[in-house]
Amino acid sequence: MARRKIVAGNWKMNMTPSEAVKLVEELKPLVASDDVDVVYCVPAIDIVPVVEAVKGSNVKIGAENFYIEDKGAFTGEISAPMLKDAGVEYIVIGHSERRDIFGENDILINAKVKKAFEAGLKPILCCGESLELRKKGTYLDWIKRQITWDLTGVTADQVKNLVIAYEPIWAIGTGETASSDQAEEVCKAIRENISEMYDAATAEAVRIQYGGSVNAGNAAELFAKPNIDGGLVGGASLKADFGKIVNYK
Ligand code: PGA
Repeated sequence: MARRKIVAGNWKMNMTPSEAVKLVEELKPLVASDDVDVVYCVPAIDIVPVVEAVKGSNVKIGAENFYIEDKGAFTGEISAPMLKDAGVEYIVIGHSERRDIFGENDILINAKVKKAFEAGLKPILCCGESLELRKKGTYLDWIKRQITWDLTGVTADQVKNLVIAYEPIWAIGTGETASSDQAEEVCKAIRENISEMYDAATAEAVRIQYGGSVNAGNAAELFAKPNIDGGLVGGASLKADFGKIVNYK
């Protein structure tokens, strides 16, 4: 069975609540689609108004971060059950900005993946190599290691509901996109890794996105590749172009 494409916006630390609602209204007619899953991953403070604003549309909501405990003395944090109760369905985990700026390691990321599934959220698990590793040529080993660590103890049934986003760090926010062949090479290797870790059916089911300077001009070529099941889109998700990415065909 063909995998359904999934195009997710990663708003990062952009959009006040009132700006967020305005953007949702602007994008509503542009992102309508019958055959692509559309997700907005939004800052925590935007979740409640945005969940309300997308009602009646095809858009699902994701969060960008949470902490692994359910509740308690963790000042400043938000839990997975809180997100679920607020109407969130997807959760970005392991983004390179959280790994690099906020020091998240694969042990924490693995705990987050397990907690997200336990709470009924679908993780969008990010992986990707630095420019240094790309130049060295060891990027496939690096990504395999990230995926293996991050999915330790995660079941095949859970992985079937997982989204993996391959995001080469050198292509994020830089305007430099991986070529469709470079992106396909890694997404294919990730699928093979899932097949080795689990089985062929799980590898067939898992959806693998490409992320890193996806825009209205390059989405069609990237998404046409057999192992690329959509995109995780940063900058271009904050403007009308996002509609063109969703409706890339
Ligand atoms: P970008 O960000 O599209 O702005 O490169 C992608 C991401 O970080 O998810």
